Amino acid sequence: MALLFAMPGNEASGSRLAEAARLESGTLEVRRFPDGESYVRILSPVAGEAALILCTLARPDEQFLPLLFAARTLREQGAASVRLVAPYLAYMRQDRRFRPGETITSGHFAELLSREFDGLVTIDPHLHRHRSLSDIYTIPATALSAAPALAEWIRSNVPAPLLVGPDEESEQWVAQIATLVDAPFILCRKDRRGDRDVEISVPDTNGHPARQPVLVDDIASSGRTLAEAARRLQEAGRAQPICAIVHALFETGALQALRPVTRAIVSTDTVPHETNAAPVAQLLARGIAES
Ligand code: R5P
Repeated sequence: MALLFAMPGNEASGSRLAEAARLESGTLEVRRFPDGESYVRILSPVAGEAALILCTLARPDEQFLPLLFAARTLREQGAASVRLVAPYLAYMRQDRRFRPGETITSGHFAELLSREFDGLVTIDPHLHRHRSLSDIYTIPATALSAAPALAEWIRSNVPAPLLVGPDEESEQWVAQIATLVDAPFILCRKDRRGDRDVEISVPDTNGHPARQPVLVDDIASSGRTLAEAARRLQEAGRAQPICAIVHALFETGALQALRPVTRAIVSTDTVPHETNAAPVAQLLARGIAES
């Protein structure tokens, strides 16, 4: 049986995953020294065992070094393999050099993780200009889809939805969920002018006036994309939307700013957050078993 080690902040999802995937929970200790350096100790025997580390990669910079130390220590202690389960995979959006001199972080981060792990299981990585994880990851990398989990929530809670994608990139998620809940979808257009400055245009459509708009996006970070889309939908005469998000990254204050322009906000639990309503443990368990 494989051993699952949950990095700090992933303990609750680790218990759910261990139960869903019938994995044994491993124990590790991670803490910070007063000077900010990381201390990592593996407490479970791992020699000859397949090890999995669960670490969702929201706020990746502070998580990366302890994660790397844990992976290396598992190997030093004889683990037969070390795979990473990262329900949210960071550093996928800077996938090209938009301006001269910029770092293409998606490729560098993929290279760093590929050096440390024997495999990767993740959910809805932000694939846009990279068509697949294998474009940048050199280890076996499985990308699962949270669409069925969000579709299940929508089916149980929204009688007549109209799925709305805030930009063209979101079509991959929105179209799949629309099919699963047997509802129509529309796509908005987004022009991003800065980290917290986006302009959204809603398509000129008068169809399905009575349907409840459900804005679907893979990531909410500053929350501006969803807030701006929600405002534009209401200006176009639509009802306040429900937001359904895969990865609820939400910077401080973003959720509070989004609430007044939306009817409800829900997310999967790939990133622990108060909006979590669609669990992914079963999905991850299947992905681990099949990868
Ligand atoms: C864009 O590439 C993503 O799909 C999301 O729309 C974006 O990351 C959301 O960011 P924010 O919440 O900061 O507008």
